[in-house]
Amino acid sequence: MSQPHLRTVVVLAAGEGKRMKSSLPKVLHPLLGRTLLGHVLAAAGPLGADRTVVVVGHGADQVREHLSEVAPGATPVLQERQLGTGHAVRIALDAVPDASGTVVVINGDVPLLRPETVQALVEAHEEAAAAATVLAAEVPDPTGLGRIVRDVQGQLEQIVEERDATPQQRALREINAGIYAFDAARLREALGKLSTDNDQGEEYLTDVFALLRDAGEPVAVHCAADHVETLGCNDRVELAALRGLLRDRVNESWMRTGVSILDPHTTWIDVTVTVERDAVIDQNTQLQGATTVGEGALVGPDTTLVDTVVGAGASIVRSHALGAEVGPQASVGPYAYLRPESRLGRKAKVGTFVETKKASIGDGSKVPHLSYVGDATIGEHSNIGAATVFVNYDGVRKHHTTIGSHARTGADNMFVAPVRVGDGAYTAAGSVITGDVPPGAMAVARGQQRNVEGWVLRKRAGTDAAEAARRAGEGASDTGGAASEGD
Ligand code: UD1
Ligand code: MG
Repeated sequence: MSQPHLRTVVVLAAGEGKRMKSSLPKVLHPLLGRTLLGHVLAAAGPLGADRTVVVVGHGADQVREHLSEVAPGATPVLQERQLGTGHAVRIALDAVPDASGTVVVINGDVPLLRPETVQALVEAHEEAAAAATVLAAEVPDPTGLGRIVRDVQGQLEQIVEERDATPQQRALREINAGIYAFDAARLREALGKLSTDNDQGEEYLTDVFALLRDAGEPVAVHCAADHVETLGCNDRVELAALRGLLRDRVNESWMRTGVSILDPHTTWIDVTVTVERDAVIDQNTQLQGATTVGEGALVGPDTTLVDTVVGAGASIVRSHALGAEVGPQASVGPYAYLRPESRLGRKAKVGTFVETKKASIGDGSKVPHLSYVGDATIGEHSNIGAATVFVNYDGVRKHHTTIGSHARTGADNMFVAPVRVGDGAYTAAGSVITGDVPPGAMAVARGQQRNVEGWVLRKRAGTDAAEAARRAGEGASDTGGAASEGD
């Protein structure tokens, strides 16, 4: 059994990422719910390191700020000039002079790395009591990467960068993934001996391996089971490819837990989302941030949910939601927009072309069509008529509207907040409600209808309308006038 080790994680994140052509530092580019750096930190998380040091340089302030949000325990260390990966690790270790045991170093741009792989690397390294262990992978296209050069016995001889490699070395397809485990003391010593005698004139961390080997120290190679995990990100084309790979990984793992994903190629689920079994995710759907989808819920097609909680058995069709809560068996859409603090109770409904914001819609209540509900509380089992606007804004401040339970409000109402409609109250279609409506009352707030008989025949004589009116008049005299009630 290996001894328990104090562990330090060093993440290298000072590079500019020139080929991203971005004002955002490369490691802060997002990828399904985390930044590249966030993914790397998450992969190292289960190691339970005593210390995590992140080497920052380009965009240092932005990277530090991001770290304070996602990994407040990590220590950012500034590398003012990017003089190479070896130089970066040297600076990192200077910040933790008491570091002992295993030091894990991870390039900040390998977001598909899995925690299990880092753990396996560290275990192999500690069990072998190696001075240094590198994670390697066989890749179909090694272009641009450092190659693992082995001696005739198959032991690691050196890691050579492509630009410094001989043609034979370039033909090797076993590459350095940029993830390593070191013994702290021996790493520190070797870092002190690095030269800049290479094509880029940089201190290469990878040179530590040949230095240690030459000093008779045991160095090792740990092979990644799946080379996809070791893929780096250098430009936006690679970023898009990584996003596709991560999408497939995430979708596959949810399908294996009992979630139906009808079109995995167009379903994008952040790594931070959870989905319960028997949920059905239809095509062109994005689930982002802290979104959770309950058992048996139906989401999609064409739906984006950000930080939204979907209850069991709810359905959300062709809609967009941000920071909303959708109760069990509630129904949303098609074409609804739920903005932050929208809360739908059990079996509530927000239908077509409805926008909600800071709105609590109680159990069984419905806002079926063409409405805006902002700054509102609606009780239980109430129905809001089509084309209703909760007039919440007086040009300066927002005001609240409260509708009770079992209320029935008419179509095309304006609720001019602040205003209250009591339990069991009704409002007439077309009303502009500016005053409170007591429970059980019917509020009518609209102009009285006045019919000017015969107006079209007099004022629009000769038109099709007048002709139609004349014919209807004849018909009416034949039948005594037929009136039907619509719904
Ligand atoms: C590095 C490895 C290469 C490996 C590849 C895997 C070296 C010399 N080469 O090459 O063998 O196959 O990663 O992707 O290490 N960084 C700093 N400070 C610096 C320089 C780099 O923090 O002074 C950071 C970068 O931000 C990046 C990481 O270190 O996250 C790797 O640097 P990069 O320039 O991408 O190295 P590669 O050329 O990809
Ligand atoms: Mg790189």
